[in-house]
Amino acid sequence: MMCRGYYTRTVLAAWNWRNSQLTNIWTFDSNAGYAAYAGQGNHNLSVADVDQDGKDEIVYGACCINDNGAGLWNSGYGHGDAMHVSDINPGRSGLEVWGIHEGTSTPGSALLDAATGALIWKTANADVGRGVSADLTGSYAGMECWGGTSGLRSCTNASAGSAPASSNHLAWWDGDDLRELLDGTSITKYGGSTLLSASGCASNNGTKSNPALTADILGDWREEAIWRASDNLSLRIYETTTTTSRRMYTLMHDPQYRLSIAWQNVAYNQPPHTGFFFGSGMPAPPTPNITLVGSGSSNSPPSVSITSPANGASYTAPAAVTINANASDSDGSVARVEFYQGATKLGEDAIPPYSYSWSGVAAGSYSLTAVAMDDDGAATTSPAVGITVTGGGGSTSITIQENTTGFCSVDGTIDSNNAGYTGTGFANSNNAIGAGVDWRISTPSSGTYTLAWRHANGTTTNRTAKLIVGGTTLVSSINFTGTGSWTTWATVSANVTLAAGTLDIRLESTTSSGLSNIDYLMVTGNGPQAVNCTGKASQRLDQT
Ligand code: GCU
Ligand code: CA
Ligand code: CA
Repeated sequence: MMCRGYYTRTVLAAWNWRNSQLTNIWTFDSNAGYAAYAGQGNHNLSVADVDQDGKDEIVYGACCINDNGAGLWNSGYGHGDAMHVSDINPGRSGLEVWGIHEGTSTPGSALLDAATGALIWKTANADVGRGVSADLTGSYAGMECWGGTSGLRSCTNASAGSAPASSNHLAWWDGDDLRELLDGTSITKYGGSTLLSASGCASNNGTKSNPALTADILGDWREEAIWRASDNLSLRIYETTTTTSRRMYTLMHDPQYRLSIAWQNVAYNQPPHTGFFFGSGMPAPPTPNITLVGSGSSNSPPSVSITSPANGASYTAPAAVTINANASDSDGSVARVEFYQGATKLGEDAIPPYSYSWSGVAAGSYSLTAVAMDDDGAATTSPAVGITVTGGGGSTSITIQENTTGFCSVDGTIDSNNAGYTGTGFANSNNAIGAGVDWRISTPSSGTYTLAWRHANGTTTNRTAKLIVGGTTLVSSINFTGTGSWTTWATVSANVTLAAGTLDIRLESTTSSGLSNIDYLMVTGNGPQAVNCTGKASQRLDQT
């Protein structure tokens, strides 16, 4: 889900991620038939199955978008800074939405039916900036609501006493079923004492004073609180030290709560809520439908076979080999199929029909297998399929550019200011000893490979570098002589013996001038492949 816009135009788009492809499922746009939905969004949203059809809706503030991308309801009360969705009133069927609203011509706060948006009760028109809902006291049924109301209101709008000192965040911290107040870096009991002061920590979002996260991430159902340290050098996780007699599944077992943790990244975070009433006098919480992970006797491993190529198939180098596999699991589902050549993993596919396209395969004999993983963690390896690739000189080349599957990391920048490069740019390393560029490749067999770099060195001083493969220096000095100008490019190469498998390649400056500008790395030999290393950190050890 991608969501943009809440003061005026509002657009939500749902996407599938399948086979490395994003496909749009639907787009909701207030400019396309939903003009009244403009300006209804909050700085936060909630995801819940409000109409109880087994699919989740997006509660976007004063409006709600159905799971199929259609507008479900719209109160028209406009933008607000805080919203809470849960079974706020367990005496009514379904979920409720407690929201506060800006502007003086709409209610300051309102409780709505989450399925229809119908008004349950509201407070007078006012511009209200803070509001919370939680079960703070067992004296009134359900969750209390406050913010812009006269004091603390029960879920049926009875006066429930004075509003708490804070209208910010929440945590289930002590051992009872009531929820505690979290504000800034402390947690307090409503009408009671401070339970935690996280000294040395700081909160986020200015006057909103939010924690980094509160969520049930460890231990029993009570929530942990995470803040940044005041010096911004670490995150700290605090957990309760109070015991509890309440025994139940973790809060993360509740789908709506778990989704609440997933939407914390939406602008100003708000406390997560469960999809059932959690509080004083609650019945036993719903039992989640749990599948145990593991390969116990009741877990049948998946079955898997390579359907093509056929055993003994032959190709001409450089070959394009599409490997197809069938996989199934009698007591669950197949999570993914991984494709191997010998011990080298070629790739994987999570969506049937399972397949992998292996291109640029050099002459040689290869043994292909597919490994299926099921949803319980069991794995099965298919019978091996042998193929032969002949002719074609036995050697292929790949050129690795500075794209997403190309340069793993650069101690410096990717530039495009000096013309004559290929692809979208070149690596300009820092002018320092030890500055380098990293690549990751795989080789199907050990053998001699040629590594060639297209480079430009606009100075008259030679720039030397060492070649490090898998942490070992294979060539201690490769000379990148001056090319005459920064826009004149030349190629420098080194012949090396590489092992079979996935290899991390690094070219690292041995002088304070840094590397020559590097356009690409070309690898020539027996079927080298570029391996995606997005996010891989630099291998440089002396980096500060
Ligand atoms: C110039 C040139 C850069 C180069 C740098 C260097 O600034 O434009 O591309 O990397 O010199 O000396 O390394
Ligand atoms: Ca440079
Ligand atoms: Ca390039």
